[in-house]
Amino acid sequence: MRAAITAVGGYVPEKVLTNKDLEKLVDTSDEWIQTRTGIKERHIMPAGEATSDICEKAINQLLKKRGITADEIDLIIVATVTPDRVFPSTANIVSHKVGATNAWSFDISAACSGFLYALETGSKFIEAGKHTKIIVCGADKMSAIVDYQDRNTCVIFGDGGGAVLLEPSKDDNGIIDSVLKSDGSGEEFLHQKAGGSLKPPTHETIDAREHYVHQEGKTVFKFAVTNMAEVSREIMDRNNLTGDDVDYLCAHQANLRIIDATARRMELNDDKVLINIERYGNTTAGTIPLLFSDFENKFKAGDNIVLAAFGGGFTWGSVYLKWAYNS
Ligand code: UT7
Repeated sequence: MRAAITAVGGYVPEKVLTNKDLEKLVDTSDEWIQTRTGIKERHIMPAGEATSDICEKAINQLLKKRGITADEIDLIIVATVTPDRVFPSTANIVSHKVGATNAWSFDISAACSGFLYALETGSKFIEAGKHTKIIVCGADKMSAIVDYQDRNTCVIFGDGGGAVLLEPSKDDNGIIDSVLKSDGSGEEFLHQKAGGSLKPPTHETIDAREHYVHQEGKTVFKFAVTNMAEVSREIMDRNNLTGDDVDYLCAHQANLRIIDATARRMELNDDKVLINIERYGNTTAGTIPLLFSDFENKFKAGDNIVLAAFGGGFTWGSVYLKWAYNS
């Protein structure tokens, strides 16, 4: 039995932070940001709102579209690196907020690959026949851990995310294959220095601004370009797919140049490569479900879609699915 995505929802907060706005905060330029990343603007949540609010809004949208109620949900998985709190899990909070009284729930932490990890995990409960309705969310409030004095990172990230409903497929459509990887030696190039059990927060760590994202961009870029392209090619080859067979690539939106390199390796025409980085920046676990919610109307039942991601950990991977419905 295959797990199929049968509904999607997405949410970004209202407030927009443009490249021009960032020019006032750090030594950068709209031209630099657009040329190096493809980003024009990103959305930022207000204080007092958190990752669970993104998931709540995306889930409510999805339930309405599918015409079901929250108490029908068996399991909610939230992929995020910006949980509302260290504990309880954001998924527990989300279940309560949406009224999923019959669901169990947990978080997955795999940075920008989090949504793919969560999708793979959720799909296994469907394939095993254990559950029939699972919600997988990918969402991050990156503004909570981004230093708006650090031009290396603050221009890249934004807040937002989305959710998908997984149900048993009624035909051959659904999630077909996945290749998922991790390599913890990437820790030094992309991490948050303080706030965890290794270095609990103190006045000193706050003064040293160690509670923010630290990224060695150039190194991460090199790993991302190679690995995301490699894993996407691998999933095509082992499923006998050519560039012509693939209808769409939904790749993690970290940098337009990384997405382009992946699309070239897959031998895809530009019109098959879905892009919304210019509006949202990098929403970490949120990028792929946000692509689904933005481009859902393009997809037809049976379309071959390849998902690909690379992120902190390092973590990376690719998923091959056949879209299951017409909007
Ligand atoms: O999402 C999961 C994982 N993350 C990624 O996949 C991100 C991967 N990395 C990247 O996307 C890119 O490395 C960045 C967008 C972060 C940076 O682009 P880059 O082309 O690799 O630039 P760079 O870090 O090599 O910096 C080039 C120059 C440097 O100046 P010098 O040394 O050449 O004088 C930087 O100081 O650009 C400078 N620079 C900036 N200038 C204006 C760095 N950030 C900025 C900025 N505005 N915001």
